[in-house]
Amino acid sequence: MTVAPDSTRPIGVFDSGVGGLSVLRALQVELPQERFVYVADNGHAPYGERDDAHVLSRSHAITDFLVEEHGIKALVVACNTATAAAIHALRAAYPVLPIVGIEPALKPATSLSKTGVIGVMATRGTLNSEKFRKLLENLHGTGTFVLQPCDGLADAIERFDTVRIQALCQDYTRTMGRFGSASGEIDCLVLGCTHYAFVTTELATLVGNHIALLEGGVPVARQTRRLLEQAHPGMLNQDPLAMGQHAPIFYSTGNLNLLESAVQRWLQLQGKTVFQKLE
Ligand code: DGL
Repeated sequence: MTVAPDSTRPIGVFDSGVGGLSVLRALQVELPQERFVYVADNGHAPYGERDDAHVLSRSHAITDFLVEEHGIKALVVACNTATAAAIHALRAAYPVLPIVGIEPALKPATSLSKTGVIGVMATRGTLNSEKFRKLLENLHGTGTFVLQPCDGLADAIERFDTVRIQALCQDYTRTMGRFGSASGEIDCLVLGCTHYAFVTTELATLVGNHIALLEGGVPVARQTRRLLEQAHPGMLNQDPLAMGQHAPIFYSTGNLNLLESAVQRWLQLQGKTVFQKLE
């Protein structure tokens, strides 16, 4: 393929499914001039309950596709599980490509929490990862973290199965303990999986509106801007005429209808949107 000038090339974004749309939403607000190509790997999901080798090989296959077919200028790994399993390997394989990952917002939670007790909902894969172990180690002594693996929740969100979403959110928040502002209670809840950003209403109803829910889309979008500005001058698309002009291209490796309805439900898109199946 012919590679277009740096600043007009697209940014690749991927997740195991629809969760990364919560990151794409933030990216579109932060970088309205940019083009995005989004891959939902829902044919090989959930990542959070599979082994590292699977997530690693899927992350490589998707990145290769985005680089080879779309000439992306940056990659956003919009998945905590894939970031934990694959970001080091991706950076080693693509040393020149700016790559932004996402990790559970534990550090911001420690600054925000008054009780010092922080709940963390994430996939089993993220919580068991070496990367997460190091994150906890670095924050040793700054708070008490109540870790909750949420098997099945990403899948229920993927299918927009509202009954299962409600039941799982209820189970998991109950298991975590008491939420509130009294001593020993959880006053911050970290959403350590990009899918969970789409169930904040359900979670807030269960834990109480005064509990802070922390997700990572906005910081990832800011970091993407910074990398485009710093690492490669001229990589940021600053053309005012490009503002809001480019609807993302969406690929699904599984059920394309689920991706299309999630995009309609959760993203306000203008312009013609392209959905394609990726084998
Ligand atoms: N959205 C992904 C994350 O942020 C994981 C969902 C899955 O288990 O596939 O970890």
